[in-house]
Amino acid sequence: MDLEKIKNVFPLEKDIPKEFAIQEFIEQREYLIDGEIRYWAGAVQEIQSPVCIVDKSGKVSRKAIGSTPLLTSKESTEALEAAVKAYNLGHGYWPTLTVNERISHMERFVSKMKEKRHEIVKLLMWEIGKSLKDAEKEFDRTVVYIIDTINALKDSDRDASRFEMQEGVLAQIRRVPLGVAVCMGPFNYPLNETFSTMMPALLMGNTVVFKPAKYGVLLIQPLLEAFKECFPKGVINVIFGSGRAIIGPLMETGKVDLFAFIGTNTGANDLKKLHPKPHRLKAVLGLDAKNPGIVLADADLQVAVKESILGSLSYNGQRCTALKILFVHKNIVDKFIEAFTEELGKLKIGMPWDEGVSLTPLPEPGKTDYLKGLVDDALQHGAKVMNPNGGVVNETFFYPAVMYPVNEHMRLYKEEQFGPVIPIVPFSDVETPIRYIVNSSFGQQASIFGKDSKQIAYLIDALVNQVSRININAQCQRGPDTMPFNGRKDSAEGTLSVKDALRAFSIRALVATKDSEDNKEIIRQIIRERQSSFLTTDYIL
Ligand code: G3H
Repeated sequence: MDLEKIKNVFPLEKDIPKEFAIQEFIEQREYLIDGEIRYWAGAVQEIQSPVCIVDKSGKVSRKAIGSTPLLTSKESTEALEAAVKAYNLGHGYWPTLTVNERISHMERFVSKMKEKRHEIVKLLMWEIGKSLKDAEKEFDRTVVYIIDTINALKDSDRDASRFEMQEGVLAQIRRVPLGVAVCMGPFNYPLNETFSTMMPALLMGNTVVFKPAKYGVLLIQPLLEAFKECFPKGVINVIFGSGRAIIGPLMETGKVDLFAFIGTNTGANDLKKLHPKPHRLKAVLGLDAKNPGIVLADADLQVAVKESILGSLSYNGQRCTALKILFVHKNIVDKFIEAFTEELGKLKIGMPWDEGVSLTPLPEPGKTDYLKGLVDDALQHGAKVMNPNGGVVNETFFYPAVMYPVNEHMRLYKEEQFGPVIPIVPFSDVETPIRYIVNSSFGQQASIFGKDSKQIAYLIDALVNQVSRININAQCQRGPDTMPFNGRKDSAEGTLSVKDALRAFSIRALVATKDSEDNKEIIRQIIRERQSSFLTTDYIL
């Protein structure tokens, strides 16, 4: 990569394409509690885009694009109380509504959400620096996720419409809600990862307090009206502010039944610990990871390089599933690095809306300093930067650095960099990466690149009790969303997928009776005369 290109990566205001430009500062003051969009007159958080602008004098600075409310525990407690009231100990309107009716509310929401695609995609680019292609993908994938979840719920409700007879016991089993859910997501997928927990939670009849991610907050505003219109009051409450300040006090009340959180394990622990009755809090967590790629001596170099580039650098390496350390067999490590750095050099740098762009600026304040610290530490311990201009920083932009040879004395060996630094560790014995994974605090996924089935099988068996997904000749990833997404150790709690999420946010309840003619007649009458909404054989068409 040409140094001049990195130095000139940021645009002048006039160079921003009109359809993606932010004309006016977005001062967002609204939040949603108890079916009411309220106006906040207090302190706000300014939103600085990762995109910097070059002014006439040549000065480069982050563009301030808007502000969001910094609510206090007073407002978050009101949001919780609204959700508690709407749930009404399981007797509220929403938890007692039929599945079919809840689905109609959700379908209305999806159609309104689709109308906001352009606005949300644009904000994804400006708030978190995601490329246009990836931002569109995030939006569309979220819509598909909701539709798939609706279909999965219909299927499960159809299965539940029949009775089971076992050992003389006649029963009907259905899934019912758990209570009040607090949903929080990460900045790298501020739409997808919050909605992939919140929507199944709602569909199952829970009521929700939703706090958007740390960055990627403004993009929720266009949906507030749709939330208000499509769901009964109190069913969904949307609050803004610092997680610790506004969510901590909610946990302390003991009134939160479900905690859906995608973020760091320390953040999740701190909040979980505040609940006075931890056994009454069900948590669904997606946390940290340090997924390794293992490149065996016989690996197809082209495939291994292509997938490792995708795995370590898609969205600048800011994915929980990213490949965050590469173990490469010493017989091919030189060739691998040569091919890897060559491919990396072809990746286009630029602004999120630039055609074909891969590498964009980073949203977290101080992130480039942190990454530079990791590179410096590795250099001090004997690694080298293997690619031209690796680690060059321009404000919020960090050009990827390939570090080699990395060893256990370097921070990069263990720390989750969550950014564009690629540590490469040479090995001669597969026990080296196996030991690394066994001793790691994380256990999300791993990738194996190679051809020899015997060796791959050996690694599969060695790793299958360590991580939750092993990818053969492919990068690590969450999708397809119908497949289980989870992790061990500090990487996750619970499993997500279209079907698993519906299970995670509900509990089975059954109505059972002894198989006698009198009992059967009671059941028949309840069904015939439609006396119960739980005990019914209605079939969703
Ligand atoms: O950040 C973690 C995401 O769940 C990763 O999803 O593999 O589809 O990018 P992805």
